[in-house]
Amino acid sequence: MSIPEKRVQTRIDPYVDAYASRTRGMKASAVRALFAVANRPEVVSLAGGMPNITDLPLDVIGSVIGDLIKARGPQIMNYGGAQGEERIREQICQVMGLEGIEASSDDLIISCGSQQALDLVTRTFIDPGDVILAEAPSYVGALGTFAAYQAHVVQVAMDEDGLIPEALRAATVAARAAGRQVKFLYTIPNFNNPSGILMSVERRRQVLAVAEEFGILVVEDNPYGLLAIDLPPQPALRSMNQDQVIYLGSFSKTFAPGFRVGWALAPQPVLKKLILAQESATLCPPVFSQFAISEYLDHWDWQGQIDKFRAMYRERRDAMLRGLEDHMPPGTTWTKPQGGFFVWMTLPKGFDSDQLSARAASHRVAYVPGTAFFADGLGSRNMRLSYCFPTPERIYEGTRRLGETLREEIELRTTFGLVGPPTAELGQ
Ligand SMILES: Cc1ncc(COP(=O)(O)O)c(C=O)c1O
Repeated sequence: MSIPEKRVQTRIDPYVDAYASRTRGMKASAVRALFAVANRPEVVSLAGGMPNITDLPLDVIGSVIGDLIKARGPQIMNYGGAQGEERIREQICQVMGLEGIEASSDDLIISCGSQQALDLVTRTFIDPGDVILAEAPSYVGALGTFAAYQAHVVQVAMDEDGLIPEALRAATVAARAAGRQVKFLYTIPNFNNPSGILMSVERRRQVLAVAEEFGILVVEDNPYGLLAIDLPPQPALRSMNQDQVIYLGSFSKTFAPGFRVGWALAPQPVLKKLILAQESATLCPPVFSQFAISEYLDHWDWQGQIDKFRAMYRERRDAMLRGLEDHMPPGTTWTKPQGGFFVWMTLPKGFDSDQLSARAASHRVAYVPGTAFFADGLGSRNMRLSYCFPTPERIYEGTRRLGETLREEIELRTTFGLVGPPTAELGQ
């Protein structure tokens, strides 16, 4: 006896007809979907983006937090204001000063990681169908948030110097011609996740000039700026324009993500909306975490700690670049990041990184396929390789296994006449 379709659906999920239409855009993060394979001990995972925080002074942090609870437990374990605690907002202004930002603590709101700041900004600006311009490729978590608010995401090409101003202009003009309102440009100028690309200072000026000409708000997402490996921190877009840039920051990569403390620095009228959005979302950001980070910043040489992180990531980045140089077949290209966590690889024409991931798993290596970082299905020849977490030896071994995977694929494809001579260019 056949079961009516409706009944089958109902048995799987009885609420299927009740969900809001925005849930249709929500899908599991590609990175999370890979967890089952990537977390197996025999697999070298070049997939995850977890910071390596084993070097943190855990004994110092433990005793500072213990003292804090003894001295002020009832206050720090209570509710706080939606904007966040004054003390940490002042300290954050000093942190942002390292990237040339002059800001007042009044212009800042604390969020539950910068991911929540991204959510607050999107919920504040986006009606279904509004256009968000974003780099191609772009952070998968941002694309997920944009999809959840039913934005129409238009991705704008990048080259080695970051977002291409002419492409930004063309995308803006096209959106307007189609009668769509561009609500903001989302950019990760420092060591873009996933490409590792750094926007040059000249490009920053040019991109801002286009944004100013068209009156487009810029959302600058900057979790990796202080993790520059080969150069000092670069001037933030917000340091060049105070009125049209919302800057998102985070302690996740420079301290520890478990505290879930990030922030948004925004022009006053926008900030007021973000505070209202925060009240309705969480009442207030986590008070305990804010105090814990404040104490850490006061009692520890946090800049020295960031320097240690930078040295550690340099060693890992170098291991990855050495491994790619030694093991990748001809026709494969990759970016050479000067900071952050990621290398972006481009496979020869005809290759598909989604299809290749099962073969990679059989060689005990994992990566994130490039399609995760595009809203429109592009990226099939790309993969994101992260060097933040495994040891340098494991990273090098991971690239060896990846090389093996690609060579096996090339051999098979050549045998069956599926590919011509390997060629590759940056991106798609
Ligand atoms: C570009 C970018 N933005 C935002 C986030 C979110 O970070 P968090 O919410 O931990 O501050 C991440 C995390 O990996 C990221 O890579």
